[in-house]
Amino acid sequence: MIEADAANRLMRLAKEIARHNRLYHDQDAPEISDADYDALVRENAALEAQFPHLVRADSPSRTVGHAPVASGLAKVTHARPMLSLDNAFSGEDVREFVARIRRFLALDGDAPVPLTAEPKIDGLSCSLRYENGVLVQAATRGDGAVGEDVTANVRTIADVPQRLTGNAPAIFEIRGEIYMAKDDFAALNAAQQKAQQKLFANPRNAAAGSLRQKDPSVTAARPLRFLAHGWGEVSALPADTQSGIMAAIGGWGVPVSDLLIRAGDVEQALAHYARIEAERADLPFDIDGVVYKVDRLDWQTRLGFVAKAPRWAIAHKFPAERAQTTLEAIDIQVGRTGKLTPVGRLTPVGVGGVIVSNVTLHNRDEIARLGVRPGDRVVVQRAGDVIPQVVDNLTRHEDRPAFAFPDHCPECGSEAVAEEGEVDVRCTGGLICPAQRFERLRHFVGRPALDIEGLGEKSIAEFLGLGWLERPGDIFRLKRHRAELLTKEGWKEKSVDNLFAAIEAKRAPDAGRLLFGLGIRHVGAVTAKDLVKAFGTLPAIRETAEAAHAGDADALARLTAIDGIGPAVVEALGDFFHEPHNCDLWDDLLSEVSPPAYVSTARETEWTGKTIVFTGKLETMSRDEAKAQAENLGARAAGSVSAQTDLLVAGPGAGSKLKKANELGIRVIDEGEWAAIVAAAG
Ligand code: IVH
Repeated sequence: MIEADAANRLMRLAKEIARHNRLYHDQDAPEISDADYDALVRENAALEAQFPHLVRADSPSRTVGHAPVASGLAKVTHARPMLSLDNAFSGEDVREFVARIRRFLALDGDAPVPLTAEPKIDGLSCSLRYENGVLVQAATRGDGAVGEDVTANVRTIADVPQRLTGNAPAIFEIRGEIYMAKDDFAALNAAQQKAQQKLFANPRNAAAGSLRQKDPSVTAARPLRFLAHGWGEVSALPADTQSGIMAAIGGWGVPVSDLLIRAGDVEQALAHYARIEAERADLPFDIDGVVYKVDRLDWQTRLGFVAKAPRWAIAHKFPAERAQTTLEAIDIQVGRTGKLTPVGRLTPVGVGGVIVSNVTLHNRDEIARLGVRPGDRVVVQRAGDVIPQVVDNLTRHEDRPAFAFPDHCPECGSEAVAEEGEVDVRCTGGLICPAQRFERLRHFVGRPALDIEGLGEKSIAEFLGLGWLERPGDIFRLKRHRAELLTKEGWKEKSVDNLFAAIEAKRAPDAGRLLFGLGIRHVGAVTAKDLVKAFGTLPAIRETAEAAHAGDADALARLTAIDGIGPAVVEALGDFFHEPHNCDLWDDLLSEVSPPAYVSTARETEWTGKTIVFTGKLETMSRDEAKAQAENLGARAAGSVSAQTDLLVAGPGAGSKLKKANELGIRVIDEGEWAAIVAAAG
């Protein structure tokens, strides 16, 4: 490779690897397998070895993991950095690692180098700081220099003693891996599924997601475990070998792997690797290799570190496991957001102790890249516990037509389109698509949208199941099922009345919230509000969007003149109204509700310039919505009662404000009367 290409490639690798680091460490949502990630890192290292003067300041070889972001947990600066490990991928790599050590220490070519060998646990590293034997702090690795304070969470892990037994040095940081056992992971995901909560991709992600919680009670409910594999800052060391110290740590009551051995030389270490690899599928937790460490601490000290990893340790990674099988079919699944995901159905095949019969094919581009069609022989890979992937197609050269990615949604028949520059194909069916219906309805009644209290996920699911709900307008016709609802478990007169009252209170909803609630792509709460402000009513918005879609330059200009509204919003609105079923749904909804037109404060209404105060509990709307309604009427919503107050809307529990309003002789009404005023003004 010529230098310019190498520089270019190194730049791309730095960006790409940094992105995968973020996905893995911060978002617990890796996109590629560990083996593919390692391949990128190796390519980077090989290029840097060939062109040492091209090593970038932001090179992945100089950085560990990724600085913590956005979790809301406090930062902890590590007293000693938490390092990473270099990787070996073959016995030869490991022998070369030992040969390098001999050269560095100027030992004889055949001098034995005793090593410890232990499983590389696929979890996340954590540093436990003990002072006088008492756990005082726990921190994640973060970028190696600064991690996150997870003390409260780690205190909930049974494997981690609050107090060490025996005589530990005054300061001793135990480092190790927090992980989740395979069985516990399966049980957790089953429970998540039942509760309609997010599923975790693998035990590592589940452990990471469980640990980095602001609320320790969430961590406490998750089955996390800990295995020690080293130490950080210490005031004294209880032995002069790695194996000796690990034994001491075990003696203090902290779990240490029972697969940790001291090998007299590299061949013994490799034999242990073979044993662990053979046992891998039966181990209770995921491992992705074996870690070797020089046993003598005086040698470790002399060997020191290179950039981000010690010279005295290496991770011998397991090869990604692969198998061949037949791709029987490609099914298209429609996700909650309408994304069409191709799923490969395989002739079941064993890969690394697990039977694989489904693989994700990610998207249209991935299918084209692999050139896969039903009937092809494919190579399936499973690395760590990452979702199995198709990595190769053995039949691709056969003269058969390519797989035709659907241009219509298999669930509802609506058009399925990919936006410019996007790989994902999405169903445009929105609410009429059964795959999207539940999420869409949930969004529609949710707090930032219509905010119908009492119509939660459970009720939506129940009403969907009963066939009472398909689209938003149906919500306002639910009362027809009153008698039958009263026969259902969990529903009593009072709860049914409350539900219907909450629904009725939304007959004159805020137009912006209603528009936002429809979940039109790119139309968020702010955009929806801006549209309403600019056009006044929902029909006016529709008319303008349809005209713009049909090529009316004036309509397009009026839309894009609004701050923050660009071609994506215009196109999304156009697409939405282009679908007849969306128009039906819209008409149906507007036959049930009458959102008041947006009234700019400049317009005169009975309430223009008046000051309104809300107090007590509002039962059918949020405080924000009530204030927005007041503003819609041209009034000002204030926080306290004074002689300038014109109206007090008081709900149950109103106290001092109500008293003061009465003293000042200010008109006081309840929420129902307020709703009537709003409806009348609309
Ligand atoms: S020793 C200075 N031993 O692997 C050396 N690490 O890829 C520090 N890991 O950050 C690491 N099992 O989180 C070591 N038996 C083991 C390990 C192990 C898992 C993790 C650890 C480290 C990462 C490096």
